[in-house]
Amino acid sequence: MNYQRFESNFIHLDAVDSTNNYAANLIKTTNVANGTTILTKRQDFGKGQRGNTWYSEPEKNLILSTIIYPDIQISYAYYLNIAVALAVSRTLADFGIMNAIKWPNDIFVQDTKIAGILVENQLQGKLIKSSVAGVGLNVNQLFFPAGIRGTSMSLILGREIELNKLFMHYFGMLDFYVDILMQSNFKLLLKLYYKQLYRMDVWCNYEDVKGSFQGKIKGIDERGRLVIEREEGLSYYDLKELKFLPTI
Ligand code: BTN
Repeated sequence: MNYQRFESNFIHLDAVDSTNNYAANLIKTTNVANGTTILTKRQDFGKGQRGNTWYSEPEKNLILSTIIYPDIQISYAYYLNIAVALAVSRTLADFGIMNAIKWPNDIFVQDTKIAGILVENQLQGKLIKSSVAGVGLNVNQLFFPAGIRGTSMSLILGREIELNKLFMHYFGMLDFYVDILMQSNFKLLLKLYYKQLYRMDVWCNYEDVKGSFQGKIKGIDERGRLVIEREEGLSYYDLKELKFLPTI
């Protein structure tokens, strides 16, 4: 298979601390091709967003990190998150699972998370020299530990999914959206993102430092902040500054 931007260089591991860490080390020590992807059966110290950990039952799920040389300015970094989120979202849709992207890049089925994304960038001046796009997608996991609310493809579809087939589909999709990014077609990426954005243009409940309020997501601004319409005007939020409250 020929890809637009990626080479098919796949590294399969039995166990690792974190595929993101493994990929970051690889970048430091060797010349790895664009698209090189590390996949593992078991991850012992999976990293999540905001310093959280990512738990994934061994051998059941997709746990992977793709090395990308996006060739863009740091100020456009959030578009890389968008490209990865779109690739996961589209893969799920192609496997028959309706889903939405919860800002900035969690993948939700109805109100439950099915996949998490952690993109870590290595910078050179104002440029992103390389990126590690980590994805944890719940595939065949049927039980979640107490305190972890999650769902999986298998729970939704009622059957097992072949991990390698799913991965190959995702990889093709990631190449597709990264190609759009590398053509600097930010407008198209944003349009596709908005179509998938959870709670877009719907009045819902939120909470910020000042308390709870009703608001309507209008999109993101040029810094990647979430824009919410409120009775008194527009508000802009960075990560950690906003909590999504239940709708009822
Ligand atoms: C989140 O929702 O908090 C992001 C979770 C990202 C988890 C993936 S699993 C593969 C890759 N390696 C890591 O250590 N983390 C990411």
